[in-house]
Amino acid sequence: MSIYLDHAATSFPKPGIVCRRMNQMITRIGANPGRSDHKLARKANQVVNETREKIAMLFAIPDAQRVIFTGNATEAINLGLKGLLLPGDHVVTSSVEHNSVIRPLKRLERVGVQYSQVPCSPQGNLNLRLLPRGLKPKTKLIILTHASNVTGGILPIQEVGAFARSKGIFFMVDAAQTAGLLPIDVQKMNIDLLAAPGHKSLYGPQGTGFLYIANGVDLKPLKEGGTGTESDSDEQPETLPHGFESGTLNTPGIAGLGAGISFVLEQGIIKIWKKERSLTQNLIRGLKRIKGVRIFGPGEMEEQVPVVSFNVESMDPAEVGFLLDDLYDIQVRTGLHCAPHAHRTLGTFPAGTVRVSMGFFNTAEEIKALLRAIYEITRMKL
Ligand SMILES: Cc1ncc(COP(=O)(O)O)c(C=O)c1O
Repeated sequence: MSIYLDHAATSFPKPGIVCRRMNQMITRIGANPGRSDHKLARKANQVVNETREKIAMLFAIPDAQRVIFTGNATEAINLGLKGLLLPGDHVVTSSVEHNSVIRPLKRLERVGVQYSQVPCSPQGNLNLRLLPRGLKPKTKLIILTHASNVTGGILPIQEVGAFARSKGIFFMVDAAQTAGLLPIDVQKMNIDLLAAPGHKSLYGPQGTGFLYIANGVDLKPLKEGGTGTESDSDEQPETLPHGFESGTLNTPGIAGLGAGISFVLEQGIIKIWKKERSLTQNLIRGLKRIKGVRIFGPGEMEEQVPVVSFNVESMDPAEVGFLLDDLYDIQVRTGLHCAPHAHRTLGTFPAGTVRVSMGFFNTAEEIKALLRAIYEITRMKL
C-alpha cells in the first residue's frame, strides 16, 4: 500500500462525501448554474451558492457574494495582484513566497509595478521589525504566504494585517498551505484579499480555489464574457461575484469543495490541527535521531503546518525521493517546490530539499514506516 505524503501539493484521498457530492452533481443535477431559469439550473446555482456560504462561514467573510471561484490558488493570486495593481504601485512581500506570487509580480514589473521582498531568517521566519523598512511612499499592497510550503513555518499574518491597516495599505494572504488547517478570520486579521486553493486542506477536488475581495478593494476582472447576468449589455457587469466569474463554472468541483468544507467543519479545525501537529512532531523527532539528516525550518518547538523539509547528507534530494517512491512506495516531493526564493533563504538552492507533507488521513504508523525507510536510505550511503 502506498503512503501518500505530498498533501502540500494536493490532498489525497478526498473524503467519501466529496466523491459522492460530485457524482450527484454530474449524474443528477448537471445543469449550468445561472444560465437558465429551469429547475436544474436553479438547483446547480443553489449548490454553488451553498459552497460560497460555507467558505464565508469558515473564514468569517461578512458577505458570501464577495467570494470568487477560481481554478486554484494561483488563479486567485493572479486576479488579486493583476486586478489591483497599476503602474507606479509598490508591493511588499517576503523572501519565502511561492512562484504563484513572485511570477505575477515579475510580470507586473514590466508595466511599472515595483516590489520588495522582506528577507526571512535562514529558518524561514519573518522578523516583523524588518517590515516597515520594505515600505515606500507608493506601497499599495503587502502580500504574504500564511505558511511556507517549503518549511511549514507560519508567518505572523495577524500582526502584519494590523500593521498594513495602520498604514492604509491593502493586505493579501496566500492561504494555500493553511486554509482549512489554521483559523483565518478575514475581519480580525484585516485581510483585504484572501487567496486559497480548494484542493488542499479544504479537501475539495483539483481545479478549485477562491479569492475573497473585501469591500472597498477595487479590482478589475482578468476575463470578460458570459456571466448569465446583464446579458443586454456589451460591458462586463461590475457586480460580485458574477463580474469575476465569466464562463461556465467548475460546478462539479465547487459541489465537491462544498462537501470538503463540510468535512472540515464536521471534524473541526482544532481536531484536524491536533492530529496533523502530532504527526509533524513525530516526524521531526524521528528525523532528528537519524544520523546524516538535516532538517530545515522552524524546528520542533515552534508551531508549523504539517510540512517538513530535510536533506540527507551527501545525497541529492531527488535521489532520496526516488528511493522512497521506488523501494518503499512512499510519495513525497523533492526539489524547489515552486519556491526558489524560499530555498535561497534556507541555503538549499538549487538542489532543494525532500519535503514531507501530511494530511488528516495519514497515521502514526505511516510516519514510522517513513522514518524506517529514511534510516535505511541513510545506511545505503555508508
Ligand atoms: C504557498 C503556495 N502558494 C500558492 C500555491 C499554488 O496553489 P495552486 O496549486 O492551487 O495554484 C501553492 C501550491 O503548492 C503554495 O504552496
